[in-house]
Amino acid sequence: MKQADLRAAVLISGTGSNLKALITAVQEEGLALNIVRVVSNRAEAPGIGHARQAGIPVSVISHADFPDRQTHDAAVMAALQPDRVELIVLAGYMRILGEEFTRRYSGRMINLHPALLPLYKGLDTYNRALQAGDKETGASIHIVTAGLDSGPVISQVRIPIMPGDDAQSLAARLGPLEHKLVVATVELFCQRKVHYEQGRVFHQGRPLKEPLLLKHDGTFH
Ligand code: GRF
Repeated sequence: MKQADLRAAVLISGTGSNLKALITAVQEEGLALNIVRVVSNRAEAPGIGHARQAGIPVSVISHADFPDRQTHDAAVMAALQPDRVELIVLAGYMRILGEEFTRRYSGRMINLHPALLPLYKGLDTYNRALQAGDKETGASIHIVTAGLDSGPVISQVRIPIMPGDDAQSLAARLGPLEHKLVVATVELFCQRKVHYEQGRVFHQGRPLKEPLLLKHDGTFH
């Protein structure tokens, strides 16, 4: 019997190009994902347009309207509660989620981060890689835990840093690969091939020893 499409919420703050990649994969490539809600913490996030165009319900829950993190988190949880969400994808969501939120969705929430974690948690990742003289950079998808960008890494894509590169050129080269990484990683959840248990990521029933590495054609090694 065919499994039901995985019910997911996507949280965004900005452009939403990764959200768009997921929507396209659902519409054109048969990704077995049901994006039941998009949440943005910024009313002016251009990514909201992608959701509306696809007929996905949108909740704008602006952090500026709440006195603190706890009450803002509670409002997001309340918005997601009726949706029976199986996976939350943080795709350019620029807010830190508090402990209660991360506990509620433990093992069911992933974040896309533009660095080869555990290197360069936080912001300004490309410049930090450039300043360190790194030979490569990339993007990671990890399970969200209470620590910032600290949960176990599921998957990565890598690109070389070339002479003359700056943050903009790296972002431009990495962007399309990030989209492939998000789609391929979410697909593993849709196929129930990855799960998180007691602090570890399992892939096809075995604990993952190192992150799955995405080839530039969008499949895993
Ligand atoms: C991506 O670069 C992602 O790595 C980072 O924020 C960006 C999101 O872009 N977390 P978009 O809003 O999906 O276009």
